[in-house]
Amino acid sequence: MSVIVAPSILAADYLNLADQIQLVEKAGAKYLHIDIMDGDFVPSISYGPEWVKQIKASGSQLALDVHLMVNHPEKIVDVFAKAGADIIGVHVEATAHIHRVLQMIKNAGSRAEVVINPGTPVSSILPILYMVDQVLVMTVNPGFGGQKFLPQEITKVAELNQYKKDHDLHFDIEIDGGVNDKTVIDAYKAGVTVAVAGSYVYDKLDPAAKVQKLIEVTDF
Ligand code: DX5
Ligand code: ZN
Repeated sequence: MSVIVAPSILAADYLNLADQIQLVEKAGAKYLHIDIMDGDFVPSISYGPEWVKQIKASGSQLALDVHLMVNHPEKIVDVFAKAGADIIGVHVEATAHIHRVLQMIKNAGSRAEVVINPGTPVSSILPILYMVDQVLVMTVNPGFGGQKFLPQEITKVAELNQYKKDHDLHFDIEIDGGVNDKTVIDAYKAGVTVAVAGSYVYDKLDPAAKVQKLIEVTDF
């Protein structure tokens, strides 16, 4: 078993996006991570639902893993589900109604993910863990690619993994931010099942080799 690799297109060459996606898919990636930033919940602005729609229509078999870094996600989850998002992640910090928004995602037919920032404890999501398909533990503060991995977040991964066992739950545990062939190892040992990697994969050198490397170093 190896980690499921989710390359983040935030760091890709947008003018050659179709090629960039094909490269990682052929190399063994299973998810494609799409970062949606609203310039409010996080300082940056990225792209919107039309990107999800066009990537879905491109014929890629990758599961589209849409990470909503937006305030009031309840206003837009339906739009992203309709655009073709297989997984929709919402930050617990971005809404007063996390339970409702997760229900909305599931009702719209996508897999529901809750996301926690580095400053947010696992205890804040315990009441809704029974209803999620995936939990994303941010290993940087969201908003930018290319930041340094925060190793302290691995404790949260271990905590979630223990909770899963104790309560017979089966959600995936994803990490996002600063992931490379070194930082992924301890996180994988602690229970991570899905690893997002942006700048490590799309470094303009060899995205396919980077995806293969992440799979190889977690094959134990
Ligand atoms: C950060 C985004 C990440 C980003 C990761 O706010 O959520 O998905 O693309 O980039 P790297 O892997 O470069 O830290
Ligand atoms: Zn992300």
